[in-house]
Amino acid sequence: MKKSLVFAWVLVLAPLAVPRAHAASAAQGKAAFPICAACHSLDPGVNKIGPSLHGIIGSKAGTAPGFSFSPAMKKAGFSWTPAKLAQYIDDPQRVVPGNRMPYAGTHNMNTAKSIVDYLEQVSK
Ligand code: HEC
Repeated sequence: MKKSLVFAWVLVLAPLAVPRAHAASAAQGKAAFPICAACHSLDPGVNKIGPSLHGIIGSKAGTAPGFSFSPAMKKAGFSWTPAKLAQYIDDPQRVVPGNRMPYAGTHNMNTAKSIVDYLEQVSK
């Protein structure tokens, strides 16, 4: 194979590595999600100990229909971007002080981000 042809293939394949890394991270997030699933459903309107996480990314914090949120979560006042969500999963009390989620956080940003990657795939 000519050298220039090899180079062309590198150019073609390199961008494919990015979504693949994303998919691998999402798979890792899926593996971590059962901890969350003890309290959270991904189905719309299905609240358990915690609110449904259906459509969580882009939604306003503390507004999932039919769930009785803590005053802290109700007045959080922001929308869940992927970055904000990862920070919250990593350390909930730092992001929304006084919230009532009985889960201390992953305290591992890589795990938190992988859960967000998973939620981006499934919570729409
Ligand atoms: C033991 C139960 C429990 C576990 C485990 C748990 N949560 Fe929660 N979660 C809650 C409760 C309760 C709330 C509501 C907190 C409040 O109102 O202050 C909540 C709130 C949230 C919210 C805010 C929802 C909204 O509509 O604004 C997100 C996002 C969230 N949890 C994600 C997660 C993720 C991701 C995990 C797993 C890493 C997880 N939770 C683990 C019970 C739990």
